[in-house]
Amino acid sequence: MDRIRIRGGNALNGTIPISGAKNAALPLMIAALLTDDTLTLENVPHLADVEQLIRILGNHGVDYTVSGKRLATNAGSGRTIHFTARTIVDTTAPYELVSKMRASFWVIGPLLARMHKARVSLPGGCAIGTRPVDLFIEGLQALGATIDIDAGYIVAEAKGGLVGNRYTFPKVSVGATHVLMMAASLAKGETVLENAAREPEVADLAQCLNAMGARITGAGTSTITIEGVTALSGARHRVLPDRIETGTYAMAVAMAGGDVTLEGTRSDLLQTALTALRDAGASVTDTPHGMRIQRNGNGIRPVDVVTDPFPGFPTDLQAQFMALMTRSDGVSHITETIFENRFMHVQELARLGAKISLSGQMARIEGVPRLVGAPVMATDLRASVSLVIAGLVAEGETTVNRVYHLDRGFERLEEKLVACGADVERISS
Ligand code: EPZ
Repeated sequence: MDRIRIRGGNALNGTIPISGAKNAALPLMIAALLTDDTLTLENVPHLADVEQLIRILGNHGVDYTVSGKRLATNAGSGRTIHFTARTIVDTTAPYELVSKMRASFWVIGPLLARMHKARVSLPGGCAIGTRPVDLFIEGLQALGATIDIDAGYIVAEAKGGLVGNRYTFPKVSVGATHVLMMAASLAKGETVLENAAREPEVADLAQCLNAMGARITGAGTSTITIEGVTALSGARHRVLPDRIETGTYAMAVAMAGGDVTLEGTRSDLLQTALTALRDAGASVTDTPHGMRIQRNGNGIRPVDVVTDPFPGFPTDLQAQFMALMTRSDGVSHITETIFENRFMHVQELARLGAKISLSGQMARIEGVPRLVGAPVMATDLRASVSLVIAGLVAEGETTVNRVYHLDRGFERLEEKLVACGADVERISS
């Protein structure tokens, strides 16, 4: 199993190209199930989760081709992939596939909308919490689906098709918003979704669906209105930049010091997280092609954050920000409100010398003057990358095990860091 070895102490200087967003690419790919025409997605990141979803979609009958050859120098610019679901050959998403990636559960929306039936395995628990699917069930029922649970599967049916309705999410859910927006696009009449997720990835999906002929307004706000249409066509859409990758490298620079331009990204995708970074002492400026992060000399100030749905501080940056706070000049608090078990990085950061105590959903981090390298591992993607960030300043050598977590969501991580002067190496075994 591959490991990543980091020798801490180098500042980061240079340019990092930001990839297309994993969490936008996944629902966009799933949207290909809604039409028998070709959906072309540009800027698709090369990630294990994307490859896994390609396999899952293939099981339903989606063909795909990747455009052109890419020069090695251009490998970071994202791929263009054409997805065609001419015929849906199977409306079942089996446990073996869904259990590997929770987002694959989202096929339930397009399958139900286009085929009027779907049998999708319940995704089960995962490392960051129980993650139920009650909102998906309730929302699809509001659109007229009947839903049964049979042997670990959700069996959904909508004889005669889905019918538009008004549905208020009792809790903000990114996935359930994606699914209901896709399902309602092919429902009869108007659907109004209230308390919808406002994440940029939701607006990106709506933009793509509209290019396919859907009639969606309000995506990116908490009220989304969808006027159902009878069929959707193909389209061409560019995946938006990955705000979590952006924030992760921004925090890495704030941690290690230096001056890095994050190319191809946008600061408006981050908002609260950038405010926290500025409060911590980093300088963040917009450039014509992205964003520039600098921290030179000054210490890291302690900053309290609370994770929240967009535009709040993203849970997907919580672990990385905690890594940064381990080196602050005082005491900070981080409260996780989205997932009940997203603090697994705490004990691993402690192995590097961090002083963190947990009380329910709040972590208290007492900054320390030095971290010392050690072997560490993590059980999810963002937790793993927080250990890489800590390793960038830890004295000596840090080895991050279970690199497959990083490969699920960070394209060419070690290459991007090395290009900016970090001493990072992948060790294959
Ligand atoms: C998306 O997950 C992201 N995944 C997650 O990123 C991200 O952490 C999360 O949104 C929150 O921003 C993708 O986009 C592929 P939710 P999702 O439904 O949609 C509860 C990463 O590292 N809930 O918004 O699954 C749920 O348990 C990943 O890239 C219900 O109670 O998250 C959680 O507490 C990890 N019932 C909260 O809502 C439901 O039916 C928000 O979850 C659905 C969700």
